[in-house]
Amino acid sequence: MDSFSKNIAAIRQDYSLSSLNEQETGDDPVLFFAKWFKEAEHAACTEVNAMTLATVDAQSRPHARIVLLKGLENGQFVFYTNYKSNKGMELAANNNAALLFFWPELQRQVRVEGLITKVSPALSDEYFYSRPVSSQIGAMASAQSSKIASRTILEQKVEELSRAGNISRPENWGGYALTPVAIEFWQGRSSRLHDRILFEKDDLLWQKSRLAP
Ligand SMILES: Cc1cc2nc3c(=O)[nH]c(=O)nc-3n(C[C@H](O)[C@H](O)[C@H](O)COP(=O)(O)O)c2cc1C
Repeated sequence: MDSFSKNIAAIRQDYSLSSLNEQETGDDPVLFFAKWFKEAEHAACTEVNAMTLATVDAQSRPHARIVLLKGLENGQFVFYTNYKSNKGMELAANNNAALLFFWPELQRQVRVEGLITKVSPALSDEYFYSRPVSSQIGAMASAQSSKIASRTILEQKVEELSRAGNISRPENWGGYALTPVAIEFWQGRSSRLHDRILFEKDDLLWQKSRLAP
């Protein structure tokens, strides 16, 4: 091992803030997620609504990136993006996806897996027009994930759109909602004996199990 790797290998954190058991997680993992989310907000976790979104492409190659959770509507996890971005094309080919939240300040992780569908145009409109005008123009100007020759071209597009002042939600920009089929709550514990409680949807009912860490 070189010294860089040795330094990395020596980074170690012991987790002792809290614990998690089968009783406190209740019967509905979405409700329990909301409880943990509020606790993460109160603990001032950085970018509390940032989550890793993992998708697979038509060749089954996985891809991951951060997006922001923007709602928990009817038990679904909602985020917004460009439908023609790489992730949009991947979801069009295969709508299985996973979300991952990491709240280090609470030594907690939540994994969510399920199927993704587009939200209604009305909900996408509601969120799009609630954003600052500069973000609305940014969404219009950016063909997300496409290769561009320079930053200048992007900035010129923003300038043109700002001058024209004709702002509307592009059809290829909007929300997605993930309907969960599995949610796992992870609470860090001492000596790597972490608590893991997994919920899996069996028809309409959630089944709960404890997993080895
Ligand atoms: C903190 C953070 C928040 C982000 N939020 C979003 C978001 O809500 N929607 C989005 O499309 N991209 C968001 N991004 C950018 C994505 O990570 C990614 O670069 C972009 O969506 C293109 O991904 P794709 O090429 O895989 O489609 C965010 C990035 C970071 C670091």
